[in-house]
Amino acid sequence: MYFHFASLTVMAIQILTNLVQNCGKPVTCKIRILETKDKTLELVKMIESTGVRALAVHCRTKDMRSSERAQWEILSDIVEAVRTIPIIANGDVWCFDDIDKVKKLTNVSSVMIARGAQTNPSVFRMEGFLRYEEVVSAYLKKCVDTDNPYQNAKYTLLEMYTESKHTKAPEYKLMSQAKSLRELCSIFGLGSYLDEQQAVQCTRVKTAIPATTSTPPQNENGNCGITNPGGCKCRRMESEGEQVLYRSPHVVFA
Ligand SMILES: *[C@@H]1O[C@H](CO)[C@@H](O)[C@H](O)[C@H]1NC(C)=O
Repeated sequence: MYFHFASLTVMAIQILTNLVQNCGKPVTCKIRILETKDKTLELVKMIESTGVRALAVHCRTKDMRSSERAQWEILSDIVEAVRTIPIIANGDVWCFDDIDKVKKLTNVSSVMIARGAQTNPSVFRMEGFLRYEEVVSAYLKKCVDTDNPYQNAKYTLLEMYTESKHTKAPEYKLMSQAKSLRELCSIFGLGSYLDEQQAVQCTRVKTAIPATTSTPPQNENGNCGITNPGGCKCRRMESEGEQVLYRSPHVVFA
């Protein structure tokens, strides 16, 4: 469907106004800059008037590629124009020093980091980056701790390697072929960490939730009635003889 720019703006403002008035939570907003400074300043003032609590600005237009430099220059004008809410800078913040740099240049109150953090989450460390191997291993451990679906862990790991141009590393190819959290863990020597953590998690679930059923319950749509961190999937926690018990660490559908 095609919308004229003006009607898109009106729609965005209506959405924000409605959210602010009805959702009962603080609302914040993130935009990209428009083709001209004047249009952008007009937009940010309209957004400010909706009552949002903060505005993040990604300093590229809709059509700019991520390889093009983010236009930080416009931020000081936005900060000048929008007096009542904090402005958050976003785009091309790659290291801890960039945070100070963009703040000094533009007077934004804070900074939002996306690809920089995905490439190396230790970007937030005041003392500077951690060694690459340390970061990758710490990330994978967190994935184990939170029972993160391996597809997501794999995607994020591959992105870390791609963005930082480590795709020639021997583990890169192994990772791209991995089909489970276990395979990912064994690449980094974390197989026994996975075993230990899974045992801990299993015990925790067993203690907290009694096994209620020997078959996965179905809701009225015929779907499994149990959700868990991996999505709407029943989880086989244990086998007792012939009987398989299912436990849900999360929500059971009504
Ligand atoms: C930032 O704010 C200070 C204090 O209001 C002001 O003197 C300075 O000119 C501002 N810098 C920019 C880049 O707008």
